[in-house]
Amino acid sequence: MSSDQEIFHLVYRSIAEDDLTQKGIDGILRVSHKLNRKAGISGILIKRGKVFLQLLEGPKNKVLTTFRRIHQDPRHHSIKTVIETKSSDRLYSNWDMAYVEDADEHAILEELIPFLDEATSFADNSKEAIMPTLKIFSEKLSKES
Ligand SMILES: Cc1cc2nc3c(=O)[nH]c(=O)nc-3n(C[C@H](O)[C@H](O)[C@H](O)COP(=O)(O)O)c2cc1C
Repeated sequence: MSSDQEIFHLVYRSIAEDDLTQKGIDGILRVSHKLNRKAGISGILIKRGKVFLQLLEGPKNKVLTTFRRIHQDPRHHSIKTVIETKSSDRLYSNWDMAYVEDADEHAILEELIPFLDEATSFADNSKEAIMPTLKIFSEKLSKES
């Protein structure tokens, strides 16, 4: 596998600012779809209560540049990188940035909920479960769409 075929995956968790509205989230998604498509980035943004969990996947330099911008964004805080890993496949190849929130609670996989809890500390053992769980979730979303 040559390095330019490798897909870099970055998962982080953050907390939304108190004044972030649905309109604000719509704006984030609009910009994300446009810029991610251009950069060859796919992934998913999940919001449960005030907690965001996002997977960014694509060429490593593009993912890191995008994450640097996201990291500086005042609309969220307490950003914590959970996973950085490489593989030959994307989990969310069908989406520039899928979005799921707890308003459509039924759509959030029960197994994902522990990762969307601010109290979860991401000990190494719980980290290992996150990529397989996100993969199962992408299969569920593919079937629904
Ligand atoms: C939770 C969250 C997720 C975001 N996800 C993305 C994303 O996937 N791609 C992206 O380009 N910008 C994303 N953004 C927006 C960026 O922070 C940034 O505003 C945008 O890339 C435009 O860059 P600029 O503000 O420097 O013009 C996200 C912001 C937040 C708060």
